Amino acid sequence: MAFPINRPRRLRRNETLRRMVRETRLTPDDLIQPYFVCPGRHIKKQVAAMPGVAQMSVDNVLREARETYATGVPAIILFGIPQHKDAHGSEAWDDNGPVQCAIREVKEHVPGLAVITDVCLCEYTDHGHCGVIAGDDVDNDATLELLVREALSHVRAGADMVAPSDMMDGRVAAVRTALDNENFSHIPILAYSAKFASAFYGPFREAAESTPQFGDRRSYQMDPPNGDEAMREIALDLEEGADIVMVKPALPYLDLIYRARHEFNVPVAAYNVSGEYSMIRAAGINGWLDEERATMEVLTAIKRAGADLILTYFATQVAGRL
Ligand code: PBG
Repeated sequence: MAFPINRPRRLRRNETLRRMVRETRLTPDDLIQPYFVCPGRHIKKQVAAMPGVAQMSVDNVLREARETYATGVPAIILFGIPQHKDAHGSEAWDDNGPVQCAIREVKEHVPGLAVITDVCLCEYTDHGHCGVIAGDDVDNDATLELLVREALSHVRAGADMVAPSDMMDGRVAAVRTALDNENFSHIPILAYSAKFASAFYGPFREAAESTPQFGDRRSYQMDPPNGDEAMREIALDLEEGADIVMVKPALPYLDLIYRARHEFNVPVAAYNVSGEYSMIRAAGINGWLDEERATMEVLTAIKRAGADLILTYFATQVAGRL
């Protein structure tokens, strides 16, 4: 039925009517707040490329975790910055590393907040790659064992969920088997399944001090044009035991969030990554757009595309306004 019978504007006339027919609502439950944990005390070192985001020592992570929890956000994800980096990233499985200490503190004082950990070696290796180097590339199978050590160390410290982000083949199975063997069969895996080699990770690499010292990550992270391959990666991670799958970044890959939601009947997460955050912040700071509205629009779009969970540096800020 066409105009003039049909006038879609009738249901847009005022906020009450708009509210009644609104299809997608963002809630704090949808959000996961990332933190960068560094060694030391009383440290809050702003990340220049991510205004409003800082590397924080454990005491400050705990303080912010309380605030995050108070806004209704159910979970945080932790990234670690070690004291020293080496070829194997051995501080990643140091039971007294910044991430492990932060897990223990947060679980002791804010037990209701779920603590997820990013399991990857790039922050811990002196070459900045996500695994051990053999020749001029990352050695997949040799890396698996190290990721397992890191995941176990996080879970022993009390992590509620682990999130492997390295993109090695077989890492979900390796982590699942190791957790099960150590009586951690109840700990879920949030797999960074379709993680693309993206320019939008740029600001994160300053925050996590994880820029590769040679080459790039294209031999393990996905090639941005590939959507079918993303679905195969998700299928493989589910076969290996992933409980939640992720598409990352979010905005340039909304089509894949949509496909994942429809092709797989499991929870889908999306990572609104550092570059997506910094673009909005930069434009907001310059007065080029309304930051609050742009943020809500972006996060709601990611949810509308099909994401059940959104990892975003805006989580606490946005949840406080919902
Ligand atoms: C670790 C990791 C990265 C991000 C999450 N985990 C960086 C990378 O792969 O280079 C990116 C997050 C962001 O940009 O916000 N491998």
